[in-house]
Amino acid sequence: MLAQIEAGAGDPAVAASPAVRAAWLHAACIVTLGVFAAWLPGVASAAVLPWLEGAVAALLGMAIGLPRWWLPINLFFFPAAYALLTLQIAPALYLGALSVLLLCNVGAWRNRVPLFLSSRRAAAVVTMLLPQARGFRLLDLGCGTASFLADVAQVRPDGLYSGVEMAPLPYLLSCLRAYGRRRMHIKWGDFWQTDLASYDVVYAYLSPAPMASLWQKARAEMCPGSIFISNDFCVPGVAPAQIIRVGDRMHSTIYVWTM
Ligand SMILES: C[S@@+](CC[C@H](N)C(=O)[O-])C[C@H]1O[C@@H](n2cnc3c(N)ncnc32)[C@H](O)[C@@H]1O
Repeated sequence: MLAQIEAGAGDPAVAASPAVRAAWLHAACIVTLGVFAAWLPGVASAAVLPWLEGAVAALLGMAIGLPRWWLPINLFFFPAAYALLTLQIAPALYLGALSVLLLCNVGAWRNRVPLFLSSRRAAAVVTMLLPQARGFRLLDLGCGTASFLADVAQVRPDGLYSGVEMAPLPYLLSCLRAYGRRRMHIKWGDFWQTDLASYDVVYAYLSPAPMASLWQKARAEMCPGSIFISNDFCVPGVAPAQIIRVGDRMHSTIYVWTM
């Protein structure tokens, strides 16, 4: 895992990610305002400085082209952090919360894909798209806690199910779920390093960020006749063979491409 995180540090996708740019932006704002406050004491009170930082960071965030939804994050991040510092919260709690976040969301840092799970209904829709032949192979790219694989396997126990997951905590939960199921196999790792050639169905529920590159990978590796399914995120500029509205609470849409 350390090796993966270190590899990510030099990864251009990571270096350019909004989270990294926002972190640099806040560091620059905090240092600048800190120097300003030290040189001109009394110009801005301690209560105003966090809001000043938030306002400057929000404006600069827009100027450097961060997505619009970063505006409230940039505006409220430092005032909220400052307010929390005034509460008597044990540091271990912060450390614990940060650790759980990191252990669950390495994928968000590396690939801008956080952890959230497919609904049961989405799994039921995918079940209807599976090959009729017994022994088909399905791969879930970034399988989370493997709840999707388990839902599908319950309806079609004749398939072979694989999942690859890079975040340690979901990976462990996946392994627990797969324990004792001979037809389910979970691997810890990066799906970009996983060859897609041997799968009849590849399922992805990720984010808009990796879809164009993932399509290139699927086209290069998947066999003719196999199917590529994406929950919610369409491949830009590539018309799917089928679009299915799932009708769940998340308003999921299933996109299907045949290779
Ligand atoms: C939105 S969740 C989907 C979970 C599951 N597939 C489902 O549908 O319920 C995406 C998962 O992909 C994982 N992930 C993101 N990038 C990855 C990568 N390059 N390799 C392996 N897993 C990755 C994340 O850690 C996260 O758990």
